Amino acid sequence: MSQPDSIAPHGGTLINRIANPTQRDEFLSKADFLPRVQLDARAVSDLEMIAIGGFSPLIGFMEKDDYDRVVNEMHLANGLPWSIPVTLSVSEEVAAPLKEGNLVRLDNAEGRFIGVLELTQKYTYDKRHEALMVYRTNEEKHPGVAVVYNQGAVNLAGPVWLLQRDADPRFPTYQIDPVESRKLFQDKGWKTIVGFQTRNPIHRAHEYIIKCAMEIVDGLFLHPLVGATKEDDIPADVRMRCYEIMVENYFPHERVILAINPAAMRYAGPREAIFHALVRKNYGCTHFIVGRDHAGVGDYYGTYDAQHIFDEFNPGELGITPLKFEHAFYCLRTKQMATTKTSPSTREERIHLSGTKVREMLRRGELPPPEFSRPKVAQELARAMQINEPSYEI
Ligand code: ADX
Repeated sequence: MSQPDSIAPHGGTLINRIANPTQRDEFLSKADFLPRVQLDARAVSDLEMIAIGGFSPLIGFMEKDDYDRVVNEMHLANGLPWSIPVTLSVSEEVAAPLKEGNLVRLDNAEGRFIGVLELTQKYTYDKRHEALMVYRTNEEKHPGVAVVYNQGAVNLAGPVWLLQRDADPRFPTYQIDPVESRKLFQDKGWKTIVGFQTRNPIHRAHEYIIKCAMEIVDGLFLHPLVGATKEDDIPADVRMRCYEIMVENYFPHERVILAINPAAMRYAGPREAIFHALVRKNYGCTHFIVGRDHAGVGDYYGTYDAQHIFDEFNPGELGITPLKFEHAFYCLRTKQMATTKTSPSTREERIHLSGTKVREMLRRGELPPPEFSRPKVAQELARAMQINEPSYEI
C-alpha cells in the first residue's frame, strides 16, 4: 500500500467556510437588514479558524450535543476527539430577539461586518461545570475560567461563513492557512512534519526540544499563536521578531516554515494540548511537540499532565503523533541543554528556564542570560522592552 502524500485533516475533509463571491454579494446585500452580534477578539479568531479549516471538522459554533459531549467526554457528537468547546456566547438580552433558522450578521469589535451565522440553536450552559471539566478548576483567577465566567449566558450555534479572508496586517507574510501549509509541505517533499506551538519568546529549552524533534522528521512547522493572550504575555509582534531571529541565525532555513496561528489562547493545559495537536494536524503536521506544562498557567496543572492526557485516547484516534519532552534545562556540567534523560547533573548544576521566568526577568528590567536566550534574541527583547542591551558578546 502506498503512503498518502499528506496527513488527512481531522474528520477527513479540510473545511472551507470563506464565502465565495456569490455568497459574499448575497450577504452584503442583506447586511443592513440582518440582526447583528458583535464578536470579541476570541470569537473573531474562532470564526477565522473555522473558516480556514484550522478547526476542521467544525463548520460553525458548537450546537448543544457537540458542546455537551466535548465538555464531558472530549469527543464531538459524531465520535471524533475534540477537547475544547468552540462557542459563541452572548448575553440573554442579545440572544432574546434572535430567531433560530435565521441569519445573523457577525461584526468585529470595530463594528465591521466580517461574517454570518446561520443560527440553528440557542442554549444555556453551566459555566462552573465547563470550568471544572475543561480547565480542571473553577477559580476565577485562572485566565481561561475568567473568560468563561465573564462571557454571556447563552450560546449561539450554527454554521458560519467568513465574508472574506483578509491578510493579517501585522504579519501578512506569515499568514499561511492550512490549505497553503499543506501545499508547501508537499512542494518541499516533506512526509513528516512536526508542529510547534508557542506563546512565549523563544528560549533555549524551546530550541532544544524543537531540534531534538527535527532530528527525526522532515521539516518543522514553527507555529506561534498570535490570537488573544493574557495581558502579561509578551506581545505577538515582539515574539515574532524573536522567532525570525532564531530562524535566520540558528536554524537551517530550508527545513523550517514559520507561520502564525491566529487562534486565541485558552490556558487549558492538558485539554488545550489535544486541541493544539488537532489544529496542527489540520495544517498538515504529522507530529506535535508537547513539553513541560504545555499551555499551562500558574500551578493549575502537573508538569506532564498535558502529555498524560494523550493516553486517554485510543491509539490512532487523534491521527497525529505527540512528541513528548521532559523539562529541559541548561546543564552546567556538560555546558549544553539537556533533560534528566541525557544529563548526569545534580540539581545544583541545572539552570531551569521557562517563559514565565523570562517574562519575570524582563519585567524586573533584567535580561535573560545566554543560558536562557540566544543573545540576539535577548537583544531584541531588550529593545522591545526598553531595557539596557546585554553586555555580553553578541
Ligand atoms: S505554551 O503555552 O504555548 O505551551 P510556551 O510557548 O512556553 O507555552 O511553550 C511552548 C512549548 O514548549 C510547549 O510544548 C511547552 O510544553 C514546551 N516547553 C516550554 N518550556 C519548556 C522546558 N523548559 N522544557 C521542556 N519543554 C518546554
